[in-house]
Amino acid sequence: MPLLEIDGLRIYYYTLSGIVKAVDNVSLVIGENEWVSIVGESGCGKSTLAYGVVRLVPPPGRIVSGRIMFRGRNLLSMDREEFRSILGREIGMVFQDPMTSLDPLRRVGDQVAEMFTTHLGIDRGEALEKAGELLEVVGLSRDYINYYPHQLSGGQRQRISIAIAMSLKPKLLIADEPTTALDVIVQDTIMDLIEGFKREGTSILFITHDLALAAERSDKIAVMYAGKLVEFGTVDQVVDNPQHPYTMGLLHSVPDLWGPRRIESIPGYPPDLRDPPPGCRFHPRCRFRIDMCSREEPELIEVEEGHYVACWLRSSGGG
Ligand SMILES: Nc1ncnc2c1ncn2[C@@H]1O[C@H](COP(=O)(O)OP(=O)(O)OP(=O)(O)O)[C@@H](O)[C@H]1O
Ligand SMILES: [Mg+2]
Repeated sequence: MPLLEIDGLRIYYYTLSGIVKAVDNVSLVIGENEWVSIVGESGCGKSTLAYGVVRLVPPPGRIVSGRIMFRGRNLLSMDREEFRSILGREIGMVFQDPMTSLDPLRRVGDQVAEMFTTHLGIDRGEALEKAGELLEVVGLSRDYINYYPHQLSGGQRQRISIAIAMSLKPKLLIADEPTTALDVIVQDTIMDLIEGFKREGTSILFITHDLALAAERSDKIAVMYAGKLVEFGTVDQVVDNPQHPYTMGLLHSVPDLWGPRRIESIPGYPPDLRDPPPGCRFHPRCRFRIDMCSREEPELIEVEEGHYVACWLRSSGGG
């Protein structure tokens, strides 16, 4: 049984100006002890997908349909109590902006310790002791338990968020762009830290817009475009043998040694998700498009074992 199985998930934002189909029929599987990265441009629905898994989709967003099976149980049909026993304990989440998840008015030690007092029922003194130990695990001195979030750098705050998410040794860590605002050296140490947790048995759902970064550490990569999953497979499959023109475009946009980041390989912009193009959502930007692409939506199909793609060039037996 896979650890996490997302099946036909739809999450829409019901705004005054229309319905934003931010996650539209996405299915995805994460195995035990697996690192899966979700990659895609800004606004394609990565964070919304993560919020869905932890049932924290902000209004006016709503989970419209789908199932999220975690160790065989549907997270979406659990009552509040049952879900609360899983969030934090079995699933840890690091949010895109640590300032939104940390309480600015409380010392970070108390915020970490709270995980232990709430979930393990131990007293504050013992919990603070454990919080100090945990700060050392994430590469901070235990003195930081007395600091407030605003006294920390972005990288230090991100470490605190990771410490909180990992405090109860969850089976799954969801990390939403945990390194985006950080310089490359700090980024690397955070990635090492996450990889260390994976070695100890935690599965990772990592979210990034940076395919090159994802390729370094992941087992599998899921490429999202405009609310849809367009390609999924192992790193070797997706990076060395990309099948979707969007993935190919992302690969051409990775920085290379001889020049600046080249992004001209994908012309145009992602669509407005209130009114996405018909057929394949990528077709207006796709240089390989055929007639079919603007008329009908391609399904995600398996092109080789474990490698899935949603593209008419593959589905029609051509290409
Ligand atoms: N609270 C909200 N109300 C209305 N629309 C929203 C809301 N939050 C997100 N959206 C829309 O949903 C879509 C997906 O947003 P989301 O934040 O999930 O993208 P993302 O892939 O995480 O982007 P980024 O890389 O910039 O973090 C976007 O079109 C966005 O405008
Ligand atoms: Mg995001």
